[in-house]
Amino acid sequence: MAKEEGIPVSEAQIAVHWREEEYYQPPPKFIGQANASDPSIFERFSEKYFPECFKDYADLLTWDHYWHTTLDTSNPPFWKWFVGGQLNACYNCVDRHLATSRNKAALIWVPEPETEDARAITYQELYVRVNEFAALLQDFCGVKIGDRVTFHLPMVPELPVSMLACARLGVIHCQVFGGFSGVACGDRMADSGSRILVTMDGYYRNGELVDHKVKADEAVEAARQRGVEVEKVLVWRRYPGQYVSKSPMVAGRDFFVDELLKDYRRKVVEPVSMPAEAPLFLMYTSGTTARPKGCQHSTGGYLAYVAGTSKYYQDIHPEDTYWCFADIGWITGHSYIVYGPLALGTTSVVYEGVPMYPDPGRPWRIAEQLGVTIFHTAPTTIRMLRKVGPDEPKKYNYHFKHMTTVGEPIEPEVWRWYYNVVGKGEAVIVDTWWQTENGGFLCSTLPALRPMKPGSCGPGVLGIYPVIYDEKGDVVEAGSGRAGNICIRNPWPGSFQTIWGQPERLVEIYYEKYCRNKESKDWRDWPYFAGDGAVLAADGYFRILGRVDDVINVAGHRLGTKEIESACLTVEEVAEAAAVPLMDELRGRVVEVYVALKPGFNQSKDIEEKVARAIETEIGKIARPKNVWIVADMPKTRSGKIMRRVLAASTNFADVGDTTTLANPEIVESVRRYVQSEKLAHGETPRALSQEEIEEIRAFGQAE
Ligand code: WTA
Repeated sequence: MAKEEGIPVSEAQIAVHWREEEYYQPPPKFIGQANASDPSIFERFSEKYFPECFKDYADLLTWDHYWHTTLDTSNPPFWKWFVGGQLNACYNCVDRHLATSRNKAALIWVPEPETEDARAITYQELYVRVNEFAALLQDFCGVKIGDRVTFHLPMVPELPVSMLACARLGVIHCQVFGGFSGVACGDRMADSGSRILVTMDGYYRNGELVDHKVKADEAVEAARQRGVEVEKVLVWRRYPGQYVSKSPMVAGRDFFVDELLKDYRRKVVEPVSMPAEAPLFLMYTSGTTARPKGCQHSTGGYLAYVAGTSKYYQDIHPEDTYWCFADIGWITGHSYIVYGPLALGTTSVVYEGVPMYPDPGRPWRIAEQLGVTIFHTAPTTIRMLRKVGPDEPKKYNYHFKHMTTVGEPIEPEVWRWYYNVVGKGEAVIVDTWWQTENGGFLCSTLPALRPMKPGSCGPGVLGIYPVIYDEKGDVVEAGSGRAGNICIRNPWPGSFQTIWGQPERLVEIYYEKYCRNKESKDWRDWPYFAGDGAVLAADGYFRILGRVDDVINVAGHRLGTKEIESACLTVEEVAEAAAVPLMDELRGRVVEVYVALKPGFNQSKDIEEKVARAIETEIGKIARPKNVWIVADMPKTRSGKIMRRVLAASTNFADVGDTTTLANPEIVESVRRYVQSEKLAHGETPRALSQEEIEEIRAFGQAE
């Protein structure tokens, strides 16, 4: 027990300080056309009908053989879905749409330079390209069912083509985010035992033609050091026939795909009928220190889950033009750019570049030009666009019916800008909470049937029964105002099957904490531990506080970094905020915040004081930051997440560690120098840190 300002606080009673937000109702026009507008759907997916309820999702697919067992729990927690069923994922995303939609756009690719036109790829063309590349993989590379093939590709149509070609052959694809280093790619190749690397010579990012092939050489070397020999490197060219990389091609190892394809013109490869349980792909998630985890996703369960959630939560109709502005190198892109939308036969937009190139009106120009009806992105992108182009959306004539936010908690202030300005007050918003491990959404609102609440993702999605447990495993009741660990009580079809090559870590990381009985074959004894802190309001809506290690414990009060950051965002001048812990002799930790301002505002004592006061007002004195640092920009990962551990290191005079995965490594040094010289000038001297403290700083924020 700790005592602060007269309030006793125990570890199990974690106080949270959110203010309740008001509801927003979906517009009648949206409800009228929604895929799920009859509330009886909740009953159909209630616990009483679990697991059979997921037949609804599986029936969105075309099966070669129907399954006999919906859920097999005989080897927990290695659940099996749709056992006995056989299907092909590529057939489901491509071939089966030819009968009705052969000449409709499956993908629309938008190159970053505006001098290059957007290119529509019809289902027919996708079919041809996928078949030709599958024939090449099979014949030239000799890949077989169950082999792993690694891709290190940017946001180009060749990425979905490559994915679908593997899926057609029953080969497991492993796309590594294009922004990652060659070494990171090589490590993952070694982990998955891939002999083939598929890459590209270059791509556009922020106005620059980036040399990407050079990373392939580093990847091959890194894999070799870990004992895996890469046999072939297949290089797609950004401009077929023209090589834009300076990296030499290695004879006998490196091949231009456009040249090889000449031998496979119009070749057709029959889709291989795969068991529902066969792995479709690996998606690596990164920890800060540990070996990356290759999350293995299944064919039948995964595809059914992303198709079902795309239909009901993304409200995708075949006639929509759907733009998920994420990278296919993340799970969001796999599930909600490629597999979900294509399984439903819609048109999915793939954009090569960054949001603000050449100016912050770009996304809205794309939306206008293509007639995008559904828009999907992450809070970091929304914050960035709000910061630099708050009035840009008004200048463009587009109309979204639906918008999604994913990837981190969204501050209510930012949510309201998304709703009012980006969505023009016409679009519903779904805030979707889930993880790489999960395959698809876990918590969100069914858009026509539940109101929106800024900052809350909503209740569990159909067939998902979440719960919050405290550290002892007791349920934290709805409306108690206490935070705890959000868990999912039941298995679901989209879940990863295992961690590639490390099955023991599946139990250790995700199930050990709350498993009631390891001998039990009853799924009820095996809640899934997600590793996120959350609060459950009386109305059944969850609010995600961030990773459980994103908590700053000030004198026994656990303060979510997100709640502090949301408070900062209530200050008009603030565009972005990050809260970090400062090691403190007396209070354990105190809060420091870093903020970036909207354009037109300059650093001032006045703004610093406003931020501190906002935190005090919204949360309480306990959270008042020791310092408010106004900085030009935040250190960010290539996926746009603020790298809080780098800021925490700067605050604590600790080693900033590896910054090679940052999108903007140059910012780190200027922030560090500014903060630390100010601290020294104020007589705040660095003190020696304990090993635990160093570890905590290193792990803080968890984002890679
Ligand atoms: C966070 C991304 C709040 C969360 C799909 C989770 C979110 C981690 C949300 C997974 C959301 C994701 N609200 N937090 N709507 N969505 N997160 O594996 O901490 O890249 O554990 O999957 O992102 O990140 P991942």
